[in-house]
Amino acid sequence: MKVLLVNGSPNKNGCTYTALTEIEKTLKTHDIETEIFWIKTKPITGCIACMKCGEKGECTFDNDVVNEFVKKAYDADAFVFGSPVYYA
Ligand SMILES: Cc1cc2nc3c(=O)[nH]c(=O)nc-3n(C[C@H](O)[C@H](O)[C@H](O)COP(=O)(O)O)c2cc1C
Repeated sequence: MKVLLVNGSPNKNGCTYTALTEIEKTLKTHDIETEIFWIKTKPITGCIACMKCGEKGECTFDNDVVNEFVKKAYDADAFVFGSPVYYA
């Protein structure tokens, strides 16, 4: 079993990452394979509901980290999404 933990923070090794590593430690004690995936800092193109993903199996916009995530997502059994609150 593999769990993909998504770090949705612009900070690669910030608080969101630290929280995910705590979850990762617990998963590893149960012999669960893990990978932390960082979305980096480049803006992600919004979905325009073109539905091409249904045909292609990936996003038609190949200008951000989304398709890199999609490839890894196919091999994952579960996800943990971590996000900082930047509302202020
Ligand atoms: C611009 C900005 C706005 C923030 N707004 C909030 C907020 O509204 N509520 C909150 O609880 N924390 C807020 N925070 C604190 C972050 O959520 C917190 O520092 C978080 O752990 C940062 O995660 P990171 O280190 O992975 O980026 C804000 C931080 C920043 C930089």
